[in-house]
Amino acid sequence: MKSKYSSSINKRMPENYLYLDIPTEPFVNYFLNDYIPKNNIIDIITSSNLSHVEHQLKNKPEKSMMDLNSLLNKEYKIPFKIEYFSIFYHSTPQSIHTDGITQIRYSSLNLPLTNYQDTKMLFYKIKNETNTPIVQDAFYFKKDDLDVIEELPGKQQWVLVNSGIPHNVVCTNHALPRITLCVRFLGNPKFELLKSYISNNPIY
Ligand SMILES: [Fe+2]
Repeated sequence: MKSKYSSSINKRMPENYLYLDIPTEPFVNYFLNDYIPKNNIIDIITSSNLSHVEHQLKNKPEKSMMDLNSLLNKEYKIPFKIEYFSIFYHSTPQSIHTDGITQIRYSSLNLPLTNYQDTKMLFYKIKNETNTPIVQDAFYFKKDDLDVIEELPGKQQWVLVNSGIPHNVVCTNHALPRITLCVRFLGNPKFELLKSYISNNPIY
């Protein structure tokens, strides 16, 4: 329903991310105290060139993700099943990229777990569309080809982000790496579609 405040609220609404009001604590506790140590996630990442490890639910079901899926369905009517999640470990600034290997991955549901306080995620607009990104494990961009359009401050809250436009995590601390849980949905739904479920089913 429209209110007399809607136009001023809309102006302040972020365009490339959206916070969700679902519990964080059980997930933070489980991943930091149980999942990450039990699966040696930090050792696996730091002893390789990887920035993250991925867990496909079709290979190994995971109760915490079933719980999260139920919450998202119950609170926001999100019909998509979770396909996989990744644990990211950022000790240095990330290169600017869009997610995906051959196909852009449009959205990510993120929960920063540690050392997120002074970090931020920047979103960019491409100045010159003719400059083709470099494809490796993601589509990478040069900073000179981009303008920053939005900034998401590091905060311990579930947040849906638009991973289909250039973005990166910056202001990370080498001594205190930021660990983030990133959840991806089956069918690769577009950010705008997931955002519409969350906006249309406010739980406040
Ligand atoms: Fe990303």
